[in-house]
Amino acid sequence: MLSIMLINAILCPTVPVTKPYVLWSNSSAVEGLPYWMRCGLKNGTEPITYKWEQESRSGLVTTLAETNQSLINIIINRNNTGWYRCLAKNEVNQERSDRSDWLDVLYGPDLPQVDVAAYSVTALGYSALEKGYVSLMCQASSNPPCQYTWFYNNSEIYTGSQLTITKLLRGNSGYYSCLAQNTQLNTRSKKTITLTVYYPPAGVPSCSIFPSNNYTNLALYCSWEGGYPPATLKWSPYVNGDNPQGLGNITRIQAGPDTANSSVFTCYGSHVALPTTQSCSTRTWLPYGEPQCSVYVTRNNEYLMLSCSWEGGFPLALLWWVSSSGDMQGTSEENSNILILRSGATNSGKAFVCHAKHPLIKESKQCVLKLEAPVLMTQRSVVSVYEGNDVQLTCILSKNYPAATDVTWYNNLKQNVGDTPNKYILQQAAAWSNLTVRETDSRIDSGQYWCSATNAVGGAEIPVLLVVMSKCPLKLMFISLNHIAAKHDL
Ligand SMILES: *[C@@H]1O[C@H](CO)[C@@H](O)[C@H](O)[C@H]1NC(C)=O
Ligand SMILES: *[C@@H]1O[C@H](CO)[C@@H](O)[C@H](O)[C@H]1NC(C)=O
Ligand SMILES: *[C@@H]1O[C@H](CO)[C@@H](O)[C@H](O)[C@H]1NC(C)=O
Ligand SMILES: *[C@@H]1O[C@H](CO)[C@@H](O)[C@H](O)[C@H]1NC(C)=O
Ligand SMILES: *[C@@H]1O[C@H](CO)[C@@H](O)[C@H](O)[C@H]1NC(C)=O
Ligand SMILES: *[C@@H]1O[C@H](CO)[C@@H](O)[C@H](O)[C@H]1NC(C)=O
Ligand SMILES: *[C@@H]1O[C@H](CO)[C@@H](O)[C@H](O)[C@H]1NC(C)=O
Ligand SMILES: *[C@@H]1O[C@H](CO)[C@@H](O)[C@H](O)[C@H]1NC(C)=O
Ligand SMILES: *[C@@H]1O[C@H](CO)[C@@H](O)[C@H](O)[C@H]1NC(C)=O
Repeated sequence: MLSIMLINAILCPTVPVTKPYVLWSNSSAVEGLPYWMRCGLKNGTEPITYKWEQESRSGLVTTLAETNQSLINIIINRNNTGWYRCLAKNEVNQERSDRSDWLDVLYGPDLPQVDVAAYSVTALGYSALEKGYVSLMCQASSNPPCQYTWFYNNSEIYTGSQLTITKLLRGNSGYYSCLAQNTQLNTRSKKTITLTVYYPPAGVPSCSIFPSNNYTNLALYCSWEGGYPPATLKWSPYVNGDNPQGLGNITRIQAGPDTANSSVFTCYGSHVALPTTQSCSTRTWLPYGEPQCSVYVTRNNEYLMLSCSWEGGFPLALLWWVSSSGDMQGTSEENSNILILRSGATNSGKAFVCHAKHPLIKESKQCVLKLEAPVLMTQRSVVSVYEGNDVQLTCILSKNYPAATDVTWYNNLKQNVGDTPNKYILQQAAAWSNLTVRETDSRIDSGQYWCSATNAVGGAEIPVLLVVMSKCPLKLMFISLNHIAAKHDL
């Protein structure tokens, strides 16, 4: 046994390895493809081990592989770029090859990285302010270095890695894509980002106040729309609400009766794209005094128009009519309310109440109209006069709402005295009407006169007896007339 080995050693002596050399498929390789390298040897006795050393551009040497075969097969990647040496070693010696050529691995481009110098990053992408500046920087690893092209909404806009827009317009919002191309490998990759340009709403916020909750509360409304993102709005003094701030338009409810007359509320609006806050103000106020009730009658006493007004205020007050039975009449209206009724005796004695409610007062205010047919009275229902003198008959008007336009007198022949102006003189005021009969004549003017008044809800008339005594009176007649006078003239 020992002798066989000895003979072997003598007949087949271990041949030292000669200096190896590097052989490979190509000095230029593409990442991801198979690649082989061989450590070539002229001579040397097996077993021989091989070690592959890789040297980077910076001089760092690493071991790629250690194997007992001269050929290695790898799937190449960019980390394989470098110079190579192989070492061959057997029982008696080891030899190192010269440094190989540079192995250039072509790769990429990887997915580009886009760096944005802008206002902020949101979940949806990037945002920048109108009139501001944005810079989009695109980088992708690639060998050889890649070419960059920028697209906006799929249209090509720029060639180069850095896209800069110095004065943004709101129309610049959209999709920006960076396309990186490795022209040697004819490969490409693309990254898209979303850019949103923020712009403020035009002008200033607008403020208003509406009645709410049946005219018991104030709804403060502030709106400033049109910007992106929506402007932030806030009422001051702080008005109750779950959230004091809101976006675009806000409504906050303020308890009405707790609010002082002439209180001013200000709405402040702010927007990221504006350096300063904008505002609007509004004042709530209560109309002065009390609601005013009045009545108008249309021609021929056909209709009654009950008018109620309590003008002014902000917001306007609400007015509505209620009848004596408590039912609401017609509709409720702001500022003034006219209720139209058909004339007629059925309305006589009825009261109509106008209610006026404004948010700044707790209880509604009221005014009342009571409709009444005229009531006539006279001071003396029998008037006597000596023939040849003038005499005055009096009629007193009470109640009478709406006021009768005219009181009419009828003479002893039931003729309207207005038809003979020379004979009669009429004097009239709101509460009375006096008829003067001129130059009385006992044969013509004695008799029953009538005073008559009519308004939209009824009419009345009363008699007045005129006794004209002749200068040489009949005694009997005089006595009997005196008797009548005593009876009526109380
Ligand atoms: C080496 O690789 C490059 C690109 O990878 C190719 O163009 C060239 O033809 C290759 N050379 C040989 C000799 O195969
Ligand atoms: C290898 O070495 C042996 C012994 O030294 C020698 O006989 C043989 O010719 C060599 N072979 C080559 C190819 O050089
Ligand atoms: C080479 O190494 C492998 C393991 O790495 C081993 O299985 C094989 O037997 C070795 N071949 C020789 C010829 O030594
Ligand atoms: C190349 O090397 C780097 C650093 O060691 C490593 O992070 C990367 O994964 C390697 N790339 C590949 C393709 O193996
Ligand atoms: C670009 O696309 C965005 C999103 O679809 C769109 O809002 C914008 O109007 C487009 N811009 C142009 C100029 O078409
Ligand atoms: C609103 O107020 C009036 C008077 O205060 C009342 O008659 C009416 O029922 C109220 N309406 C509602 C919806 O509360
Ligand atoms: C107020 O803003 C909301 C959304 O916040 C919108 O739906 C509504 O239409 C706006 N109202 C008015 C009057 O603009
Ligand atoms: C409320 O204030 C306004 C002026 O701010 C005034 O004109 C109005 O008369 C006031 N109302 C009452 C009821 O005092
Ligand atoms: C009309 O009569 C009333 C009641 O008698 C009286 O008060 C008034 O002064 C009279 N008017 C004229 C102008 O005489």
